[in-house]
Amino acid sequence: MERINIAILGLGTVGSGVVKGFEKHRSKMENTIGKEIAISRILVQNLHKKRNVSIPIDLLTTSIEDIFAQPDLSIVIEAMGGLAPTYDYVKRAIEHGCHVITANKALIANYGSELTQLAHDKGVHFLFEASVGAAIPVIHSLQHFLCVNDVKKIYGIINGTTNYILTNMLEQENSFENILSEAQDLGYAETDPTADVDGYDALYKLAILSKLCFDITPDLSLIPRQGIRDVTLEELKLAKQLGYSLKLIATAENVNQQVSLRVSPMLIPTDHPLANVNGVLNAVSVESDLAGELTFFGSGAGEFPTGSAVLGDLFYLLRNINSIPQTTVRSLPCEPKYSEQSSLTRLIFLRVPEKEATVQFTKLLQVLKKKKVTILEATQQAASEGFAAIGIKVQSLHADTVEEIQLHTNCPLSIRTLLVSQEEPVLAAV
Ligand code: NAP
Ligand code: HSE
Repeated sequence: MERINIAILGLGTVGSGVVKGFEKHRSKMENTIGKEIAISRILVQNLHKKRNVSIPIDLLTTSIEDIFAQPDLSIVIEAMGGLAPTYDYVKRAIEHGCHVITANKALIANYGSELTQLAHDKGVHFLFEASVGAAIPVIHSLQHFLCVNDVKKIYGIINGTTNYILTNMLEQENSFENILSEAQDLGYAETDPTADVDGYDALYKLAILSKLCFDITPDLSLIPRQGIRDVTLEELKLAKQLGYSLKLIATAENVNQQVSLRVSPMLIPTDHPLANVNGVLNAVSVESDLAGELTFFGSGAGEFPTGSAVLGDLFYLLRNINSIPQTTVRSLPCEPKYSEQSSLTRLIFLRVPEKEATVQFTKLLQVLKKKKVTILEATQQAASEGFAAIGIKVQSLHADTVEEIQLHTNCPLSIRTLLVSQEEPVLAAV
């Protein structure tokens, strides 16, 4: 029987999930394509590391030359992460005539267009379903089922680690550091978790989605990006009291062929579906002309959810191994827009001692009116345990106004953007 040889680069969280899932479902794939499929070599850094997957030791190597020296190597699965030396290895694999499957969002965000073109020129597949949303089949859906649509907006929660942290800080009343350490133990976080908590991982994924939806290759350094490092338990509790969840949201919205991109913590009304996407779950919403609004959600990180996406790509590839991959041409050319919009809807919120609440509330409203800020809604909640919560929803808030508001309050205040459409009408001026 003909045999298809696969090499895997990396045997950490993702590589282990791929190997375990492959062994479980191997016969199904072999029976479907009528060929033997074998993992013939695995590249690692440390041959003596204890693994959570049983693998014959002689399959492991620390030399990339051993990988390419294998006869009849057809498929390379990249689960190493990072850009160097990964980019060189992946490029070399494609030039070697191998199909490549990768989970590496940093690689795709930085070199995806180049590697996709190279793969196309070489007549091999370059697949990356696992790079966004792990188990959620969003990449394939955009490339195939939604490819005829014009996408207006794509947004969502696309980093499992930060969603796990924000959810569990609140649920367990625990610190950022402790919950981050849990997320690392569970295999959700990147090798350097800065990529998660400072929003880079979500930024890479947003760039990948934007390429698929709008055919743009945004300059990553120009996309407004804010992580969750400054979010406190007190802020999460106060947001909840006022009827919001705080989530790290990535959004790309097309207005007249200008695509505004952004990654930042955003407030979501608790009755919105994304507000209840908790823990390691991710959710991606797509608004498009024919399909309307679709929301995909599921496990956004971890060994098996990511293994599922990689193996989904593998099975797709095995069934389409002789077809030449095509890229989709979008009808309306778009370009990225990077400026922060002052027109975003924001919530100014703070917790004040009960006896100061009315004075603070009035003072804040006066400053905002003097600065001609559009006030959409203002709430002063009944006090509990001696403190009242104040929330003022505004539009067109400029930096100098923020400074002045801070001068007029003696309590720490938070200002966060709300997840609403740019075109949402002003509700009412107070
Ligand atoms: P990981 O647990 O740190 O595993 C990385 C693996 O790559 C390890 O086996 C390591 O070898 C090997 N490796 C790293 N650098 C190497 C080098 N220079 N030469 C040879 N081997 C090398 O990482 P991971 O969480 O599996 O993530 C892998 C990739 O998948 C990343 O791009 C990540 O962004 C992406 N991803 C991760 C998840 C997730 O939930 N973790 C989900 C989706 C996508 P040793 O074991 O010998 O150290
Ligand atoms: N570190 C990533 C996350 C892994 O937490 O979402 C999945 O891409």
